[in-house]
Amino acid sequence: MAISEFAESGADLELVGIQKRFPGFTAIENLDLVIPAGSFFALLGPSGCGKTTTLRLVAGLEDPTAGQILIGGRDVTGQKPFKRPVNTVFQSYALFPHMTVLENVAFGLRRRKIADPVAKAHEALRLVELDHLATRKPIQLSGGQQQRVALARALVNRPALLLLDEPLGALDLKLRRQMQLELKTIQVEVGLTFLHVTHDQEEAMTMADTVAVMNKGRIEQMGAPQQLYELPKTAFVANFLGQSNLFTGTVVANTSTAIAVDVAGHRILVPTQRSHRHAGDVTIGVRPEKLSLHLDAPAERADHNMLGPGRVIDVSFSGVSTQYLVAIPGLGNVIVFAQNMAFGPVAGENAEVWVSWNIEHGFGLEDDPATAPRFEPDADTRSIAAHQRDALQTELEEA
Ligand SMILES: Nc1ncnc2c1ncn2[C@@H]1O[C@H](COP(=O)(O)OP(=O)(O)OP(=O)(O)O)[C@@H](O)[C@H]1O
Ligand SMILES: [Mg+2]
Repeated sequence: MAISEFAESGADLELVGIQKRFPGFTAIENLDLVIPAGSFFALLGPSGCGKTTTLRLVAGLEDPTAGQILIGGRDVTGQKPFKRPVNTVFQSYALFPHMTVLENVAFGLRRRKIADPVAKAHEALRLVELDHLATRKPIQLSGGQQQRVALARALVNRPALLLLDEPLGALDLKLRRQMQLELKTIQVEVGLTFLHVTHDQEEAMTMADTVAVMNKGRIEQMGAPQQLYELPKTAFVANFLGQSNLFTGTVVANTSTAIAVDVAGHRILVPTQRSHRHAGDVTIGVRPEKLSLHLDAPAERADHNMLGPGRVIDVSFSGVSTQYLVAIPGLGNVIVFAQNMAFGPVAGENAEVWVSWNIEHGFGLEDDPATAPRFEPDADTRSIAAHQRDALQTELEEA
């Protein structure tokens, strides 16, 4: 294939009404997605939600049941995989064991009869900081180094679109973080379009300009990482992307700026602008790090919500922060993350405490609590997340 078919810069990827049915199972419902050229886009979701299937459709390894795929404005839906300006880095790197690192990277260029394969391969290896190991065989490299060779091998082709399917899955946490930053730097440097698939929410938020949270073959919410985190639209997003304290109650008043929600006799205010529903039953939430823990009843403040007294039922220390689980009668358990400013926790187990948060930090979900899954009245958010995972699991097994 001529080199002109491969881009020097990224291309838009557009999925229009994509559906993928396997015999007896619909993996992708109805997917519409536009990924602008040069962006770093992360597809985030639990196991089995359809991430790999989406990548395989884009790469041409699978045909959609319905819908179209456009790359750089060109319809590639029926095109053979090798004709598409796309390269994929899979979780298993599949380097050729009998070739050196350099030959592995140069292989694709040689096959496509591109000039200067060796010089170009060295350049790609320099990009991933492995040029000094160019003469080694893959077996003489660590897992992380093999990963970087796989990346160089994909980058050297200058694909308009690079697909990454959990490429850092096999790495230990520290190397993983390091590779995340490197990948991000490389993407900025080469300006290609990256579509990165992961089930690690921290990874998605660190690396991507845009994150799409996928659930059961549908995109639940899409946006900049911070926007998604601060203003989740559904209980699924609120719990999958970090942790949340969620409460279900009834709207009892509307002021000009906030809704007042009665949750088991507690009155909680949520900014109107940050709430999707303004009447009837609603599910509202606040992130654990937005809560303050008080050992004495704090003075009432018009701009704060306050709950308590409750009792600390669990304290877990994690270095930079401590997580407190506070049981509040009638409300269930609330999670509080507190930065460790002092040595040791500020409240021990069984301590009587109050929690408060700035009203501005609350959010109201789009989910209809009447049709959304119901939880035990005192279920904490961890058990809600576990419940959702189990429900998903059961559904997948039944399918
Ligand atoms: N060839 C196939 N035939 C039938 N079902 C399939 C096939 N390939 C995938 N599936 C199903 O489609 C769903 C989505 O699979 P996919 O591989 O896209 O998940 P994923 O989001 O990548 O998950 P993971 O995080 O575990 O890699 C799964 O329920 C899977 O069992
Ligand atoms: Mg997968």
